[in-house]
Amino acid sequence: MQTLLDRMHDAAALTEDTMRHFFAAKNADTTLYRAMEYGVMGGGKRIRPFLTLEFCRLLGGRDEAALPYAAAIEMIHNFSLIHDDMPCMDNDDLRRGRPTTHKAFGEAPALIAGDALIFSAFECALSNSQTSAENQNRAVAILASAAGADGMCEGQMLDMESDGKQIPFEKLLSLHAHKTGALIRAAAKLGVLAAGGDDAAMRAADTYGAGIGLAFQIVDDVLDVCGSTEELGKPVGSDKKNEKTTFLSFMSAEDALAYAAKVSDEACGAIRGYAGAETLCALGEWLLHRKY
Ligand code: IPE
Ligand code: IPE
Ligand code: MG
Ligand code: MG
Ligand code: MG
Repeated sequence: MQTLLDRMHDAAALTEDTMRHFFAAKNADTTLYRAMEYGVMGGGKRIRPFLTLEFCRLLGGRDEAALPYAAAIEMIHNFSLIHDDMPCMDNDDLRRGRPTTHKAFGEAPALIAGDALIFSAFECALSNSQTSAENQNRAVAILASAAGADGMCEGQMLDMESDGKQIPFEKLLSLHAHKTGALIRAAAKLGVLAAGGDDAAMRAADTYGAGIGLAFQIVDDVLDVCGSTEELGKPVGSDKKNEKTTFLSFMSAEDALAYAAKVSDEACGAIRGYAGAETLCALGEWLLHRKY
């Protein structure tokens, strides 16, 4: 049995191959494609595509059917990071140990590269040769609703509106659920979709994703204070600089991590009944102790 880290590493390589092929097939040596590839190809944990692949495997599906969806959700995630780092948002210069896309290419190219990645994600999902047109359309619907004005974009909006303000805890939970939870839930559901899983599996993936997503963002908040720039590959103290309300506005780092552990354990409960759920439960545990 591979270790969790080996499995994550292999899934990241498969996802990167899929994205590389997608861009190579465009055969377009333009500044825009270079900026898009810079934004997506520079490392990262590839947690969302890992979730898509692992949920597909859990339900007996094949990696080939999951990979275009895994690549699509990673493209959406990377669009969100490119924009998140821009001066009008978090104004950060470092991502994954390299200059952020706007630092490397300029603000307007980064903005456009982020925009274009959204549409590449949809194209990529619709190019899935292993699933039916109906399945592809459902994938696009999942991606669109998770990323858009009812999902991640709304989370980013709430995040920006909270700058310099102390928002209530309930609002922070909603902010995190939108900003980070929505794409993580979608990643899990795309795996179920690729495997042709039933409604019960879809609900289990959704519940697991919501819990893991919250735990993930809590740990992100903690790492912004307690992590190191060298390990994280992004600047620590970004939240303080931007006067964000985070989990650490309400509790100590220790209590925040205990909260994340509880949520992560509950998330695992949603999928424990499936044979082979150990990997996804181990991921939930790993995310609590990550340093990057
Ligand atoms: C960072 O996401 C932004 C959040 C939603 C917390 P990740 O921590 O998944 O970033 P990468 O893709 O691994 O760099
Ligand atoms: C960003 O949250 C989440 C999205 C990009 C949607 P953060 O602003 O906390 O992410 P990092 O810490 O810059 O990666
Ligand atoms: Mg942000
Ligand atoms: Mg940020
Ligand atoms: Mg953060």
